[in-house]
Amino acid sequence: MKINARKTIELTTGWQFVRTEFGTTQMPADGWQTVTVPHDWAITGSFSPDHDPQPLEDSVLDYHPNVIHLCRSGGLPVYGVGWYKIALDLPEGYASYIIEFDGIMSRGEIWYNGVCIGQRPYGYSSFSVDLTPYVRFDQPNELIVKVNALTKTSRWYPGAGIYRPVRLVMKPEKHILYNGVWARPEVDLDKDEALVQIQVRTNAPATVQHKILDPNGALIAEAEGTETQVLIPHPQLWNTETPHLYTLVSSTDAGDEVRTRFGIRKAQFTADCGFLLNGRQMKINGVCMHHDFGMLGAAWNESAARRQLELLKEMGCNGLRTTHNPPQPTLLDLCDEMGIVVMEEAFDEWHIGKEVNGYHLDFDAWAERDLRDMIERDRNHPSIVIYSIGNEIPDQTTPEGKETCRFLTRICHETDDSRPVTCGFNRPDAAIENGLADEVDVIGINYNPGNYQKYHDAHPEWVIMASETVSCISSRGEYFQPAVKEMPVIKHDNYQVNSYDWSAPPFCYIPDMEFDAQKKAPFVGGCFVWTGFDYLGEPTPYRTDALGRSSYFGILDLAGMKKDRYYAYAANWTDTPVLHLLPHWNWAPGTPVDVHCYTNLEQVELFLNGRQIPLSRVEGFRWIYEQIPFEAGELKAIGYKDGQKVMEDVVHTAGAPAKLRLIENWNRDGLVFVEAQILDQEGHLCPNAACTLHFEVTGAGKYLASDNGNPIDTRTFSEPWCNAFHGKAMIACAADDAIFVRVSGDGIEATTIQIQGGKQ
Ligand code: GAL
Repeated sequence: MKINARKTIELTTGWQFVRTEFGTTQMPADGWQTVTVPHDWAITGSFSPDHDPQPLEDSVLDYHPNVIHLCRSGGLPVYGVGWYKIALDLPEGYASYIIEFDGIMSRGEIWYNGVCIGQRPYGYSSFSVDLTPYVRFDQPNELIVKVNALTKTSRWYPGAGIYRPVRLVMKPEKHILYNGVWARPEVDLDKDEALVQIQVRTNAPATVQHKILDPNGALIAEAEGTETQVLIPHPQLWNTETPHLYTLVSSTDAGDEVRTRFGIRKAQFTADCGFLLNGRQMKINGVCMHHDFGMLGAAWNESAARRQLELLKEMGCNGLRTTHNPPQPTLLDLCDEMGIVVMEEAFDEWHIGKEVNGYHLDFDAWAERDLRDMIERDRNHPSIVIYSIGNEIPDQTTPEGKETCRFLTRICHETDDSRPVTCGFNRPDAAIENGLADEVDVIGINYNPGNYQKYHDAHPEWVIMASETVSCISSRGEYFQPAVKEMPVIKHDNYQVNSYDWSAPPFCYIPDMEFDAQKKAPFVGGCFVWTGFDYLGEPTPYRTDALGRSSYFGILDLAGMKKDRYYAYAANWTDTPVLHLLPHWNWAPGTPVDVHCYTNLEQVELFLNGRQIPLSRVEGFRWIYEQIPFEAGELKAIGYKDGQKVMEDVVHTAGAPAKLRLIENWNRDGLVFVEAQILDQEGHLCPNAACTLHFEVTGAGKYLASDNGNPIDTRTFSEPWCNAFHGKAMIACAADDAIFVRVSGDGIEATTIQIQGGKQ
C-alpha cells in the first residue's frame, strides 16, 4: 500500500559501536557496545599527552621548530577507526528512504546492506544518503557507519564518531528534497512589508502548496508552486529582543509536507554605520565558540547548548561566530529563538594547511560541496547575518589566495544572494596586498583594535568587522599579586593564569582595549570575542609545558561557571547594573592585595571592615584600589547611580571547609547541572578549597559527568568524584523526573539536593 505522507524517525537508540586501530578494513566480530547517538567516543576516554600530540612546526602561522604541542586537541582519544551499526526495520509503502546525518567526526563512510552508499570527510558537514535502491523488506537491513578519525586534524577538540543527530526520513512519491525549501524574505522598511520568495526542490514535477503562519501560528497567506512569492504586509520583524518567527508549511500533491521556520528582518553591513538590524545601528557584541560542551564532550546536546547561549545572552552577548566550522543545524534554531545574530563560518584551512591532516587535504575535492551544503541547509535562519569563508587562512599571505577567496565568495553569493560574505584576516595587510580583501563583502579583521581607523581612512568604502578579538586568558578564582598588565602573560608554576583579566598571550590583549576601540569606531559592526566558554584543547599558554586539557580563553570556564571577566562584559554590554568585586579575601595577614571592582555604575565606595578604602584610579569599567594590606574580615563595595545606592558586592574571609551549598544551575529537557560550593561554618565560600567531592545520583535519572573548570585537571569527566577548584564544582545529570544529588567530602557535611527534572 502506498503511503502518502512523510515520516521522520530520530535514530538515537539501537546503535552498536566498536573502536579499532587505524587501517582496520574488516568490521570486528567482538567488542561491540550499545550506545546512543549523538555519541562522542573520546569524551569518556582518559587524558594523555600521547593522545594526538602535534608538532608546532606544522602550523604555518605559529612556527616553533622541534616543539611538540601537547593536548592541542584536548589530550583525549579523538582518533582511530570507529564502527557503528544499527538494524533498520523499514515499513513498506514509502517511495524513498533517506538517512540524514547532521555530522560525523570524521571521514564517515556509510554502508548499507553491504554497499557503500556515501562518504563525507569533513566532520562538520551535514549530508543525506538514499537507501531506496538497496532496501529489503523481507530481511533485516543493516546500516553501518565507519569513521576514520585521523590524528593531527584539529587545533581544538573535535570529538569523535557520530556526534550529531541522525534521522531516517521516509517520503512519498513526489516529495521535497533534503534541504529543499528556501524562504527568502526581502523587507521594505518604508513600506512596512516583506516579499517572501519561496523556492522548493522536489524529486519529480509536483504541485506544491504553501501556507504561511505568523508568529502566533495564525494562517496569513497561501501560495502555490516550486518558485513563488508572497507579500506580507506589516510583518512582525525578527530582532534580538523580540525574535519573531514565521512558519512556511509546504506540501506536495503526494502528501509530503515540510515545515520551515523563517524570520523577517533587514540585516545590513555598511561602511559608515557598521551593522544595522531593521534600519537601526547595532554593535554586534559577539563571542566565538567551538562546539564542545566541556565535560559532556562534542555530542550534540540541545539543552547544554541552550544553557551556554542563555548564560551568554544574560551577559549582553548578542552575536555568535561558529568557529571555525559549520555548527549543528539546530544550534541555529536556538539562535533564531533567542535573538542572537550569527556569523556562520565554513573553514579554518583552504589550500595551505595548519595541521598535517587538516582540511587542506580535502579542500580541492570537497570545499565547493561543503560550502554549498552549509548554505542550502542554513539559509532560512534569520539569525545568520553573514557567512565567513575562512579563519586566519594561511593562503591570505599568497597571491593565489585571491583566486580561492573569489571562488568561495562566488559560491556563497550563488547559493544565497541575500547575505554578505567575510573572511577573518589576521594579516589584514597581506590580505590587502594579495587582493583577498577585494573579494569579500565585509573585511573581517582579527586582532587589530588599534588599526580600525587606519583601514577606514585608507578605504572609506570598505565595510569592516572585528571577526575575532581579545583572547584574554584567566583561570577562574586564581589571583596572583600584584595585579599587573601581563601582555604577554606571566606563566606560573601551578600552570594557572591570573584572573584580573589583564593577561593575554602574544598578539592578544585585554578586553579593555576592544571596548575602547569599538567606542571609537562606530563604522565597525562590532566584534566576536575569543571565546564565550572555555573549550577542550588549546591550553595556551601552557601548551608545551603541561598536560593542559582545556583553554583559558573563556569568559566562562569549561564547566560553565562565570569567571570575573563575565562581569566585565556584562558591565560593558548591558544596562543592567553590575558591581563585581575581586579577588577573594583569604590572604596571609599584611599581604598587599590589589582590589578591582568591575562596574557600569557612576560611583563606587570600598570598605574594609567598615573603613573606607581610598580609590587609586578608575580605568574604564574598573575601579582599582592598589596594595591594600590584607586583614581578615569583610570587604564591601557599594555602587551608586544618580547619588543613590544601587547595589553592593561583598567578599568575606572564610574559615576551614565545613559544609556544602548545592545550587540548581540548570534544569531543562532532562539535563540538570548542580553547582557545589564549599563553605565554612559561617556559610562563606572557601575560595581555595580543593577537597575531593563524591557524587551519588538516585531517583529517576543518573549521574553523567562533573568538572571544576580547572584547565589542568585531567581526571576523566565521567568519574563520580571531582576535586573542587577554588571552592566549586559542577555536576551534570540526566533527569527524567525527580532526582536526588548527594555530594560528600572528607570533613564536610554531606548534602543532598532534590531536583524535579524531566522534559519541560
Ligand atoms: C586565533 C585563532 C583561534 C584561536 C585563537 C587563540 O588566532 O583564530 O582559533 O587559536 O587565536 O588566541
